[in-house]
Amino acid sequence: MTPIKTVIIVAVSQNGIIGRDGDMPWKLSTDLRRFKALSMGKPLVMGRKTFESVGSKPLPGRPHIIVSRSEVFDMPGVESAASLEDALDRAKSMARTSGVAEVCIVGGGEIYRQALEHADMLHVTHVETVVDGDTSFPQIDPAVFELIEETSVPAGEKDNFPTRYAIYRRRSA
Ligand SMILES: NC(=O)c1ccc[n+]([C@@H]2O[C@H](COP(=O)([O-])OP(=O)(O)OC[C@H]3O[C@@H](n4cnc5c(N)ncnc54)[C@H](OP(=O)(O)O)[C@@H]3O)[C@@H](O)[C@H]2O)c1
Repeated sequence: MTPIKTVIIVAVSQNGIIGRDGDMPWKLSTDLRRFKALSMGKPLVMGRKTFESVGSKPLPGRPHIIVSRSEVFDMPGVESAASLEDALDRAKSMARTSGVAEVCIVGGGEIYRQALEHADMLHVTHVETVVDGDTSFPQIDPAVFELIEETSVPAGEKDNFPTRYAIYRRRSA
């Protein structure tokens, strides 16, 4: 049985910021399209606050597992998990059932910090700016993750900033 890969998808500023006041500190339409293409059909694991930040409604075409110590979400396409490990187990089992090779961890800060040790791959949109914010992503340790692909993306009409899309792979993977 091929192991299901655990993939982190994140957009992060030059000073490590990913969020401000429960939302993202930018509008990046090009990146949202990439996020959709990368995650479509795959189980998404996210923290309760991130689920609320997207309006407490599932994104179409992707089963959601919401991590929360206190709240239970019960609606079509959405499950709850009381720990990150339980969420990942359930996401992988869903992936196996539906024949997809990856599960995606999509934030926010608290979940990313705990999820890094489980991640096989990181899809990182480096947002080429310094912004104020209250939620951050940890430094990526080059001894643990190697950069395998990098593309500069100029700001489109509906993007606040240019970005650099990078893929990192766990060195032992
Ligand atoms: N730039 C990006 O790519 C990106 C992506 C996603 C989110 N964001 C931003 O990140 C911010 C939200 O991040 P956040 O750090 O505040 O919150 P979060 O990680 O989305 O959610 C935190 C919540 O998850 C639950 N949780 C965390 N660890 C848990 C564990 N081990 N077991 C059980 N439950 C656990 C808790 O829920 P309960 O309190 O219910 O117990 C906790 O309050 C927002 O600003 C959002 O816009 C940015």
